[in-house]
Amino acid sequence: MTKTATFFGTVGFMTVAALTVYGTGCSSDDTTADAGTGTSTSAAFKSNCQRCHGAEGAGAGRYPAIPGSKTDSEDKFVAFVRAGSSGTEMSAYSASQISDADLKSDYAFLKSKR
Ligand code: HEC
Repeated sequence: MTKTATFFGTVGFMTVAALTVYGTGCSSDDTTADAGTGTSTSAAFKSNCQRCHGAEGAGAGRYPAIPGSKTDSEDKFVAFVRAGSSGTEMSAYSASQISDADLKSDYAFLKSKR
């Protein structure tokens, strides 16, 4: 019989605790790896919006930084995205493409970057 040394004790679990501290008011809802609150946009933003507006909404060229002057409140931001902007590349997005909850958390994150 070989006696195998099992010495698991020292590998720490300390990194988890550090992640839960910021974001007061947002209970952690880990249905996706990136819920959009605090440190990044939602997965829906990344797939639908990022290619024009950038990962942090800074915009580029003819794509405006968001939130912009027409969307300086959460309500206006959500309404604008639902309606789109006719005659421009900004299409209307339905709730099945990006939910209200994602838009609201994205708004908060993007606004913090402006
Ligand atoms: C194909 C490129 C493209 C994509 C993809 C896109 N946008 Fe836009 N977006 C634009 C353009 C162009 C405008 C400027 C429209 C205008 O001038 O009326 C705009 C404007 C906006 C504005 C208004 C900014 C202001 O002036 O206040 C918001 C908010 C916005 N987009 C959010 C989004 C969100 C959220 C998504 C993803 C659901 C998205 N956009 C996807 C091109 C894009």
